[in-house]
Amino acid sequence: MEKISYRLYRDSDYQALIEFWQEAGLHIRPVGRDSRQSLAIQASQPMMHLLLAVEDQEISGTVIVTHDGRKGWINRLATAPRLRRTGLAKELIRQAEAWLRQQGIHIYTCLIEDWNTSSRALFLGMDYVEHRDIIYYSKRENNNV
Ligand SMILES: CC(C)(COP(=O)(O)OP(=O)(O)OC[C@H]1O[C@@H](n2cnc3c(N)ncnc32)[C@H](O)[C@@H]1OP(=O)(O)O)[C@@H](O)C(=O)NCCC(=O)NCCS
Repeated sequence: MEKISYRLYRDSDYQALIEFWQEAGLHIRPVGRDSRQSLAIQASQPMMHLLLAVEDQEISGTVIVTHDGRKGWINRLATAPRLRRTGLAKELIRQAEAWLRQQGIHIYTCLIEDWNTSSRALFLGMDYVEHRDIIYYSKRENNNV
């Protein structure tokens, strides 16, 4: 992984980022919170950190880190299929945690779908505790948000 560098998202990454997330199978909302304008606004906020792993100018990994002043959230963690099982996601999590620590946040959390055994194994291996007694609730103003 010597050629991989890490940097924040910029607006010119938009198309490549959307394609990367689609190829990774993530559920994205290109008309809502993943529109170009929405991501630009989010990425400019101090409580959000959209980190890219880049190899030869191509996106090879992503993570969105946010916090609400109390807890930190790890989202949109994905790595390029050709680089999987090389420790890249672990490194992205380490960097996400380091950023949260710098912001004064010391609880790191994420939501993982039940079927996603690779992601669950990844977070368990990074000392995250699985809470099987919590049920996620959400309310959306529309299907695109
Ligand atoms: C989940 C994902 C991010 C893991 O990325 P990765 O770069 O392969 O992860 P790492 O190489 O850092 O793996 C670290 C550990 O995670 C676990 N792990 C990762 N992939 C696994 C798999 N397919 N099966 C079992 N364990 C797995 C292992 O414990 C692994 O350690 P090991 O390789 O020493 O056994 C990647 O598979 C991905 O992008 N998936 C599609 C998007 C997604 O589902 N994201 C998570 C949303 S919550």
